[in-house]
Amino acid sequence: MVRLQRKIAVVGTGYVGLTTGACLAALGHHVVCADIDANKVDRLGRGHVDILEPGLDELVNRGLTAGNLEFVVGATNAVSPETEVLFLCVPTPMGADGSADLRAVESVLAEVGDMLPSGCAVATKSTVPVGTADRLRHMVNVPIVANPEFLREGSAVDDFLHPDRIVVGSADREAAQRVGDLYAALQAPTLVLDAASAEMVKYAANCFLAVKLSYVNAIAQLCDRVGADVREVTEGMGLDPRIGRSFLKPGPGWGGSCLPKDTNALLHVAEQAGLDFALLRSAIEQNVRQQEDVIDRIRQACDGTVRGARIGLLGLAFKAGTNDLRDSPAIGIANALVAEGAEITAHDPAITGELPGMRLVDDPYEAVKGAIAVVVLTEWPEFRTLDWTKVAELMDGFTVVDTRDLLDGDDLARAGLRWKAIGRRC
Ligand code: UGA
Repeated sequence: MVRLQRKIAVVGTGYVGLTTGACLAALGHHVVCADIDANKVDRLGRGHVDILEPGLDELVNRGLTAGNLEFVVGATNAVSPETEVLFLCVPTPMGADGSADLRAVESVLAEVGDMLPSGCAVATKSTVPVGTADRLRHMVNVPIVANPEFLREGSAVDDFLHPDRIVVGSADREAAQRVGDLYAALQAPTLVLDAASAEMVKYAANCFLAVKLSYVNAIAQLCDRVGADVREVTEGMGLDPRIGRSFLKPGPGWGGSCLPKDTNALLHVAEQAGLDFALLRSAIEQNVRQQEDVIDRIRQACDGTVRGARIGLLGLAFKAGTNDLRDSPAIGIANALVAEGAEITAHDPAITGELPGMRLVDDPYEAVKGAIAVVVLTEWPEFRTLDWTKVAELMDGFTVVDTRDLLDGDDLARAGLRWKAIGRRC
């Protein structure tokens, strides 16, 4: 019989930690979330969620009102003699050599390692290199369970509450099962594995997605060269259930806080293990070339050089539905254009404030004013329905580079604009 109400500590309140904490509270568990940022903890405690994640705000406030979700400063304050599972949701950024930097994970374990009650388990949600759970075992007096998350930014709450699978892994299978039982109400297939396999599932899945995207981005470029249309090509590919329809959309390159970091980390793991993972390395290189290709298309739209050219950017976040700029291809492309002497005005519905080298504006029409070329870099749906006649009047040039294949080319043509999408017959 699975006990429904459990006492849980979650360390780290980024989009993974906060989603985990708020969703586990929604499932009826008692959750204490800890962060080292006192200001953030204070705001969360008053129900203010700064991450743009649909449904998260509501769940946090529901948990606070119900009294089964709390926020505290510091990991040690999240642990009590009743804690049954402590989740590690702290960042594991890319270190200088491409490997995952585990300092945050290690520092939390050093703090709480000998405070955890017996019968408790530590669950790692942070993406950690294969072998980490076993390697860190000596730092705590309880089992470590790898429990990777498969949450996409922008749909993290929905992904948490409707998972494809729950993966838990540990040398202590009984502890792994206990962590898996926390999700019993979600009725997803649960895989109880050894720790290394569970850790590997996460990397193998994210890197597969990155390889898939690099492949489709290269196919899009090839379509341009041979006169095929990538939308039709990917439709034909996607109907094969072994390939599937999702993750087949070409773009300015994949980014965000996960795929770039995880591909580099797995490459590093492979190197350490003596395997030349050329396929993965080449997917990473293709992603760099994809951004260079977009920059080249923008140069062409500006008659060969962007020096002194005014360029309007629509979208900066690494994908729509988030306000996350981490490893966003849009930022890489904008910075390269600035370095070449372009004058950039950018608009993103989820980004306000200031960004170095460019003018950030609240109104998309302001972003396109006087532009030689306009570039769509994030697939925000509202860009589709812009008044393109008005855009054409405001622009100085007439090319719109649509890196997300978002817009309706006919709408743009009617407004007298030239639509350029990667791999599309324009
Ligand atoms: C990714 C994985 O999809 C999640 O399963 C995983 O849990 C998460 O990383 C993580 O490791 O935490 P996320 O980074 O939120 O999620 O974003 P994705 O939706 O995977 O998009 C990644 C990049 O691929 C974005 O830059 C996006 O614009 C790009 N993309 C995605 C495309 O260019 N085309 C597509 O068809 C799909």
